[in-house]
Amino acid sequence: MKGVILAGGHGTRLMPLTKTVNKHLLPVYNRPMIYYPIETLTKAGIKEILIVTGSDHAEGFSKQLGNGKEFGCNFTYELQDSAAGIADALRLAEDFADGEKIVVILGDNIFEDDISKYVKEFEKGNDEAAIFLKEVPDPHRFGVPELQGEKVLGIEEKPKKPKSNFAIVGLYMYDEKVFDIIKNLKPSARGEYEITDVNNAYLKKGKMKAVRLKGFWTDAGTFESLYRAAQLVKEKEDKKS
Ligand code: G1P
Repeated sequence: MKGVILAGGHGTRLMPLTKTVNKHLLPVYNRPMIYYPIETLTKAGIKEILIVTGSDHAEGFSKQLGNGKEFGCNFTYELQDSAAGIADALRLAEDFADGEKIVVILGDNIFEDDISKYVKEFEKGNDEAAIFLKEVPDPHRFGVPELQGEKVLGIEEKPKKPKSNFAIVGLYMYDEKVFDIIKNLKPSARGEYEITDVNNAYLKKGKMKAVRLKGFWTDAGTFESLYRAAQLVKEKEDKKS
């Protein structure tokens, strides 16, 4: 399966840190932020990875990451010139995917879980999409599922009154139909093409799997979560030594 890392956006919530540095190259403890989603994918055996970057300070990416050799994979780059949302960035992956199933990960998401098992299951299985859930103290910042037991009934993007304490994390698996779904999307109230609308489209068809993650997960796009991400990574590194 091929991997896509979405690393666009202006990093406005991290200003002034992002004035001259791309958000995804900021340090999370001892590595640049984007190294973590790269490792999540390569550990799962994914060797072909597309990185979609925003135009803000994009030049740093190729200097930092190169062609992927150092990471045991092969990078392709695409530039998203408007920050019109996650689903809009994913649109740029259509040629790269070339009809294959894809794993999509957000460039500011840090995962402890090894996702190899989920990747293999999705590659061989009949699900058309897969989403991943994690319980969080601040669900209003994320895509939030309405749950009936294990079953996801619907997803709301950044709801004022969340219907559960879970976040839909920035890891998604899709079949080739994702690009047709994106073509039919309309921008949300905040003017963005939302990944939550893509997931709700799959949910309606009844072909989406929802998995609860076991290890820690955080985004790193706000001061609070960037700090928390560094703490979680450090704690994990300390346990190793
Ligand atoms: C995005 C998605 C949201 C998801 C989150 C995970 O939000 O829109 O559904 O829960 O990533 O990090 P963002 O934080 O980019 O606004």
